[in-house]
Amino acid sequence: MLRPLQGLFRSEDYPDLLVGLGEPDDAAVWRLDDERALIATTDFFTPVVDDPYDYGAIAAANALSDVYAMGGQPFLALNIAALPPNLPVEISAEILRGGAEKAREAGVVLAGGHTVQDKEPKYGLIVLGFVHPQRILSKKGAQPGDALVLSKPLGFGTVTTALKREQADPSDVAEAVGWMKRLNRQAGELAVEFGLRGGTDVTGFSLLGHGLEMANASGVGLRFFFERIPFTRGARRYASEWIFPGGSADNKLFYGSQVRFAPGIDEASQMLLFDAQTSGGLLLAVPPRSLDELLERAAQVGQPLWVVGEVISGAGIEVL
Ligand code: CO
Ligand code: CO
Repeated sequence: MLRPLQGLFRSEDYPDLLVGLGEPDDAAVWRLDDERALIATTDFFTPVVDDPYDYGAIAAANALSDVYAMGGQPFLALNIAALPPNLPVEISAEILRGGAEKAREAGVVLAGGHTVQDKEPKYGLIVLGFVHPQRILSKKGAQPGDALVLSKPLGFGTVTTALKREQADPSDVAEAVGWMKRLNRQAGELAVEFGLRGGTDVTGFSLLGHGLEMANASGVGLRFFFERIPFTRGARRYASEWIFPGGSADNKLFYGSQVRFAPGIDEASQMLLFDAQTSGGLLLAVPPRSLDELLERAAQVGQPLWVVGEVISGAGIEVL
């Protein structure tokens, strides 16, 4: 879909566009001067949970995440919303309040936006941030030997699908919602503090899909260790009942040929790694010399991190 657009904008005509359609990443980056580059990104989607406030907060945390996934600090956001005309105004207001309070928590000012009428609600943000042009965290920055570190568990898509089918335990939903509302701010700041170069965030294309984007952009392979990958409570149970979002099947179809699973990993577990989720964690490539200190710092500031694999030479992904 994007290919005809790529031909319209030749990268040599835009030397200050450091990240654009030519090498798609989590957000676009435009160099302002030697010290500063502007990050621009947008993300919006239909409700993933029943509570309008939580929905707004999750959509905002998810949109802000793409700035953190570039090693940036967001500073300004605009609302983008499509709301049904018959939706009670209290509900619309709660969606927008959830998003605005999340933006403020991130130290971001909400400065405007645009709303249209639509049958199905959609909400999200346009977010601007700053990054040092030499310190961009990108999908092409992973090096063989790096450890792969994840900052949130997986399985939100499976849990929210169980919720839609009215098969979810409320405590499982609450746990997944808590994670989805959580900002990737702290994880992003740790990545900057440790000078990391390779990273992205895990959202709709799943750990394996976003992992493959990183592997392909970096010209490396990734190896994950299944037993070290964290899942939200409930995710494995709903997976064993074969409750998955439609997007997970699409991910498996699209990315499956580039992934090799060890024989012991059953179908339901494989599908969990294709979990199409919202507002997932950062996936970071960490040079081995920095790993211990990073984990120590993360523990100090209360940021959970899981070492889930390693970057290897080659291509594609293997899951052991
Ligand atoms: Co992203
Ligand atoms: Co995005």
